Amino acid sequence: MSPKVLSNAHLATLAGPDYGLIRDGALVLADGHIRWAGPAADLPAEHAALPRHDMGGRLITPAPIDCHTHLVHGGDRAREFELRLQGASYAEIARAGGGILSTVAATRAASEDDLVASALPRLDALLAEGVTTIEVKSGYGLDHDTELRMLRAARRLATLRPVRILTTYLGAHACPPDTDADAYIDDICIPTLHAAQAQRLVDAVDGFCEGIAFTPAQIARVFDTARALGLPVKLHAEQLAHTGGTALAARYGALSADHVEYATEDDARALAAARTVAVLLPGAFYTLHETQAPPIAAFRAHGVAMALASDCNPGSSPLTSLLLTMNMGCTLFRLTPEEALRGVTVHAAAALGLTDCGRLAPGLRADLAVWDVENPAELAWRIGFNPLHQRWLKGAPC
Ligand code: NIG
Ligand code: FE
Repeated sequence: MSPKVLSNAHLATLAGPDYGLIRDGALVLADGHIRWAGPAADLPAEHAALPRHDMGGRLITPAPIDCHTHLVHGGDRAREFELRLQGASYAEIARAGGGILSTVAATRAASEDDLVASALPRLDALLAEGVTTIEVKSGYGLDHDTELRMLRAARRLATLRPVRILTTYLGAHACPPDTDADAYIDDICIPTLHAAQAQRLVDAVDGFCEGIAFTPAQIARVFDTARALGLPVKLHAEQLAHTGGTALAARYGALSADHVEYATEDDARALAAARTVAVLLPGAFYTLHETQAPPIAAFRAHGVAMALASDCNPGSSPLTSLLLTMNMGCTLFRLTPEEALRGVTVHAAAALGLTDCGRLAPGLRADLAVWDVENPAELAWRIGFNPLHQRWLKGAPC
């Protein structure tokens, strides 16, 4: 990529307070990275002769990052949606063998090609809103072959579209039917994690710590394995009740604790001390008609970084829009639009352990979203409208 200047743009750099907003800014891009960002009037003389791209007075932000998805899965759960509207709860459906386990059956029946083909339209919906980096979890296989097939399908997505995919092993998502949970963790989940790492299919390890899933002690055994393999961890914690997952995640120095509706002030303290990001998933809160919002005030008070993600999955969050996620974060959880934008950029990067993206700053990847908006608050304000003009991945429009 030859060096260039993006001019006639406003920048929400997120590298300082108030969105890190620079009116009449310029960006210098070279080798897929940002070389310089600042007010156009301060453009260093050494860059003045570079070719210019007129951005038409639009707003440039770091490209959104979806840091928690279950994008790869078989089947659908529309029937479960109907059941919930008739009064059945998410936990009741799960205990009756529906929920996650119905997606497990559909995913086991799907080939790798099927999984890729069904994930692509969901991926395209995210990309259409400027997303350049997406985390994709396994967790609907719960057996050696299907878990690895999901991870391979997720990795293949990055060969079919201009996008960066990070894969997370979520073998500890649910216990397969007629299986003892401890035996599942020790005899299937942990050996499959070893296989996934041996095949270089996994970037991080996740679990579901909940009454309908696994206990902190069971998750700790998976985390010990992750640690021994040198893999970072994250955790679905405190979604439906307080079970101690957030404290466990903090104890292991997890990249993130996700959902966290039932986290306490002590949990907020522990997350802050461990620099663990709280990943908020308002799509699941909305879909499941939850009423307990995450403790945003405690997170703010203790300086916990808050990310926002779609949690795209067929059961609790059939959501493929980060813009709508931002709106839900503001309307349902009372985040500010600035917190929402930080939540899908700089804090989402941190939730994935990435230090090379999420802000507009020299040295970072030139992964950009160019928007037809005047002010950054507009991104969280509208419902169901997509003002994206252009998505740039590593310094090239795509
Ligand atoms: O993040 N909480 C657990 N896992 C998913 C839901 C999975 C499903 O219902 O299929 C979540 O909400
Ligand atoms: Fe999830």
